[in-house]
Amino acid sequence: MDVFCIEGPVRLTGAVTVNGSKNASLPIMAAAILAPGKSVLKGAPRLSDISVFSQLLTDIGCKVTSKPNGDISIDSTSIGKPVGEYDIVRRMRAGICILGPLLARCGRAEVSMPGGCAIGYRPVDIHLKGLGELGAQINLENGYIVADATRGLRGNEIFLGGPFGSTVLGTANVMMAATLAKGTTVIECAACEPEIADLANCLNKMGAKITGIGSPRLTIEGVKELHPFEYEVIPDRIEAGTFMVAAAITKGCLHIHNCRLGDLMAVAALLRSIGVTVEAEGPPLRGEVSPSAEPTADCIVACSGRVRPADITTQPHPGFPTDLQAQFMALLALAEGNSIIIEKIFPDRFMHVAELSRMAADLRKEGSLVSVSGVNKLIAAPVMASDLRASAALVLAAMAAEGTTTINRVYHIDRGYEKIEERLNPVGAKITRESD
Ligand code: EPZ
Repeated sequence: MDVFCIEGPVRLTGAVTVNGSKNASLPIMAAAILAPGKSVLKGAPRLSDISVFSQLLTDIGCKVTSKPNGDISIDSTSIGKPVGEYDIVRRMRAGICILGPLLARCGRAEVSMPGGCAIGYRPVDIHLKGLGELGAQINLENGYIVADATRGLRGNEIFLGGPFGSTVLGTANVMMAATLAKGTTVIECAACEPEIADLANCLNKMGAKITGIGSPRLTIEGVKELHPFEYEVIPDRIEAGTFMVAAAITKGCLHIHNCRLGDLMAVAALLRSIGVTVEAEGPPLRGEVSPSAEPTADCIVACSGRVRPADITTQPHPGFPTDLQAQFMALLALAEGNSIIIEKIFPDRFMHVAELSRMAADLRKEGSLVSVSGVNKLIAAPVMASDLRASAALVLAAMAAEGTTTINRVYHIDRGYEKIEERLNPVGAKITRESD
């Protein structure tokens, strides 16, 4: 149980590089199940979630090897046991996205229902509805989803919207299953997240026929078989966004390498509106559809004074990402004025509110709305990490706060940020990792 000790206030200056995307890597690793043989995912981040997913694939019969450079080879020649065990899926909800590929490849699958989550109630009913509409028989037995499609999956027109709009992993599951279904599938209200576009691009590289990528309507023409992939994952836009807030909250200046601004337009617009400079550097990155105004490979984020207040409502992509809500709450806690944050994707995603309040942030929560009254300064305190993004917000707040903050349960951060202290200390942070 590592602990972080973080001294503040500091000013970050210099260059940081964004790693490959966690949330694109996980479903792409599941896609390897669809094609017997050896697939290679390049540029995957070295994170505990990636290791847990590798264990899950190994458990069903794949041979998984990781190289020091982050490349992961997945040999799915034989799938001995199409079962996602509770012991693994309870540790990482994304394990649910082996369901669709197993169903398509093996004609049946048993995957544990994901357990509870610190960010709130997260059902998988839409996943099951979508797979059911592809012709799978789905039952729940002893906490496991038991899905059967021994007579094969059939293409269909599927509306995949839910009470909070589209579902990211739900789209991934149904899209992957549909690649090997008989006939054509149309998914309406599909997730438009860059991670889903990356998965679809990888599937097309495997021989799938998917159109409408990046839009809410995906068309998938089923094919008889797919072949293994060699694919490089996109940069992690949430990690990039977290580094942007790090520059702003410490009134610093960071050059952020391997960052796709085109994936972060809502975030860049908000930062500019509160007085933070966000500028592109260099030519567009591979495969990025860069809007004329935003060619990117790297970007500079700089801030010299107190930020202005702003109102944020989280939405599915291309709206403001829920995975940056906590980080921006830490930033707006130091704004010159009052802000409103409304969480529309995970209405209970506010574990960071109490911890930031311990650091003298002035926050009032009412349902899924938090009003943030900007304060002159934050004060260091012992705080508790609760989930991945909430803990990133505590690291950001601690770098701006006066004194030494201790953050417990650092393992939450390690799920999504690779050795964050080794990435931020070279640009001026003072983060020490200690074993508790
Ligand atoms: C993905 O989770 C991400 N995880 C999350 O990032 C991210 O917060 C989320 O998308 C939203 O952007 C990965 O990609 C591994 P959803 P996912 O299904 O797919 C409701 C992080 O910090 N819903 O898009 O599980 C659901 O409860 C993580 O890296 C249903 O009601 O999220 C939520 O309110 C945290 N029924 C909303 O839809 C369903 O069957 C969106 O959830 C599915 C979802």
